[in-house]
Amino acid sequence: MDAPAKAGRYRNPTVGQQPQSCEYTSVVTPVLETSRLLLREIVEEDAHDVYLLNSSPNVMRYLGSERVLTSLEEALALVRRRIFPQYQNYGVGRWAVILKNNGPFIGWCGLKYDPAASEYDLGYRFIEDYWGKGYATEAARGVLEYCRQHLSGKRIVGKALIENVASIRVLEKIGMKFERLEEDSDGTVAVYSLNIEHRELKIEL
Ligand SMILES: CC(C)(COP(=O)(O)OP(=O)(O)OC[C@H]1O[C@@H](n2cnc3c(N)ncnc32)[C@H](O)[C@@H]1OP(=O)(O)O)[C@@H](O)C(=O)NCCC(=O)NCCS
Repeated sequence: MDAPAKAGRYRNPTVGQQPQSCEYTSVVTPVLETSRLLLREIVEEDAHDVYLLNSSPNVMRYLGSERVLTSLEEALALVRRRIFPQYQNYGVGRWAVILKNNGPFIGWCGLKYDPAASEYDLGYRFIEDYWGKGYATEAARGVLEYCRQHLSGKRIVGKALIENVASIRVLEKIGMKFERLEEDSDGTVAVYSLNIEHRELKIEL
């Protein structure tokens, strides 16, 4: 996997409420790249693809209470209210996954910081046409590499309903460790985690 194309974008998390909506100009330079993929911030122009993703019953099948989108306006509101605040407040977020060589938006993969738990959720969601080609594994490995470079000492979690076998398989393939099962209103959730090791500071004498 190639080194992240853009480093040092991480800002320290600040504890506090996220705004309901936020004005934000996304950075379209890739945050990271892998052999086949570019990951960059989601922009308002991606709303149509976000709509395609979140209006598909198959994609949404194991996402519990998350609402299936029914309009482009809802997708745009989701980008502004749920995606942008993570970029703005924490310098990370769910990133658009683009096939290299001017390919299409195929889904998203990335982090969501939870200030209450002081942990980063690693998640992914892809358009059905692109399932089963290793893209989720490749993108998630890239995100973990980003974590190793920018989130030293932080806790990363990955959660999936136990019925979501493909998602759990991805968590296992990227080396996340099974931690526990927990019950929530959507069902039984498998929780995987990984602590990013603290980088050792080399002191030149
Ligand atoms: C989960 C998801 C991201 C996986 O994406 P993907 O690009 O197909 O994943 P990959 O190809 O990298 O790997 C999937 C793995 O699961 C396996 N898999 C898929 N469906 C499976 C099933 N029903 N039973 C057993 N294994 C299955 C694949 O064989 C592959 O493992 P392998 O490489 O060992 O063969 C994709 O299915 C998706 O977007 N689902 C809808 C959104 C979602 O549920 N997101 C996760 C929320 S927790």
